[in-house]
Amino acid sequence: MNKQLTIQPNFNIIDIFKMDFSHKNKSNYELYKSGRYALYFGLKNILSTNPKLKNVYIPSFVCPQVLMPLNSLKLNLVFYQIDENLLIDKDFLEKNINSECIIIVINYFGFSSDWEFFDSLKNKTSCTLISDNCHSLFSKYKGKELNQYGDLSFNSFRKNLPLLSGSQLFYNNMDYKNSANIKMRSPNLSELFYMMRSFKPSFIKSRLGDTKLVGHYRPDGNNKYFFDPSSENKIDLISGNLFNNYFKCVHSITSHRQKNYRAWLNYLPQSEFIFINNLILDKDTTPYVFPCIAKNEDIMHKWIQWGNRRNISIINWSNKREDLNTKLRLMLLFPIIPDKNVKKILEDVDKN
Ligand SMILES: Cc1ncc(COP(=O)(O)O)c(C=O)c1O
Repeated sequence: MNKQLTIQPNFNIIDIFKMDFSHKNKSNYELYKSGRYALYFGLKNILSTNPKLKNVYIPSFVCPQVLMPLNSLKLNLVFYQIDENLLIDKDFLEKNINSECIIIVINYFGFSSDWEFFDSLKNKTSCTLISDNCHSLFSKYKGKELNQYGDLSFNSFRKNLPLLSGSQLFYNNMDYKNSANIKMRSPNLSELFYMMRSFKPSFIKSRLGDTKLVGHYRPDGNNKYFFDPSSENKIDLISGNLFNNYFKCVHSITSHRQKNYRAWLNYLPQSEFIFINNLILDKDTTPYVFPCIAKNEDIMHKWIQWGNRRNISIINWSNKREDLNTKLRLMLLFPIIPDKNVKKILEDVDKN
């Protein structure tokens, strides 16, 4: 069995026998292949209802996958700053937002953004809000699920659950139509490879499946491999009939993820990292990773290599934007998937 500790959960082939076909009539969302497709089709819907919306405000701390649908729709992007505590530049938004703006709000790493602020901004300006829950599938804010915030919200199954694809797109504002689609497609070749990932022996370091879904993104280049809205963009039928099973065990997923999160917090040396103190791990939070900031570039590379040698995927989640906060450039994400016991893994690592 694969012993690698990864950020994304591994698909478990046995789960194919647990497919659940009962959810189809009750869906209040559309299902897409992944978060970027849900965002693209959600935005298209918003724009056709409200063509005067042109400016999209987006946090400077963002991955290229969010930019692909925006560039593809030729929207005018305005970046707002996020600081090293993941706090938003509220003054900037308060000064600039009006009814013709769309704001994308990212709930980073399983933690909610400040929805009290965004809801009040919407009340004042009638702007349009989109909640990006790709890291925050099960988290809540003030007891309400994050997918219920924003005019539109979307998530990403593969990041959070052992599935091949999938993203739910919720229209929380009745002005936008929700076709509640349930169309599905057969898994593609790279998803079939991805299914086999848990059988890969640990001495093989390369990843199986859609490894280039991230890659190097140039807005002016040919990015069809990362994002092609004319391609088959629905969820695959295995994931589409499996995800409901995981929604029934949120409590267990949350508690394992929280335990693993705390294991990294206790393990990593304070002398080498800045921990993000205002991230609060309460009962409403299902963390996606343990995020923290390396104190300098050497430390960052040291820990990525440390992980490589021990089969632990540690990634630097940032982008190359010039206006990105200098500390956020050194953000590292540590894996906390619920089927692994990180405390035990780290104890074993220290023994060897
Ligand atoms: C914050 C955020 N939003 C959206 C996406 C896009 O999601 P997906 O990879 O499911 O298309 C990603 C990652 O890729 C992400 O990190």
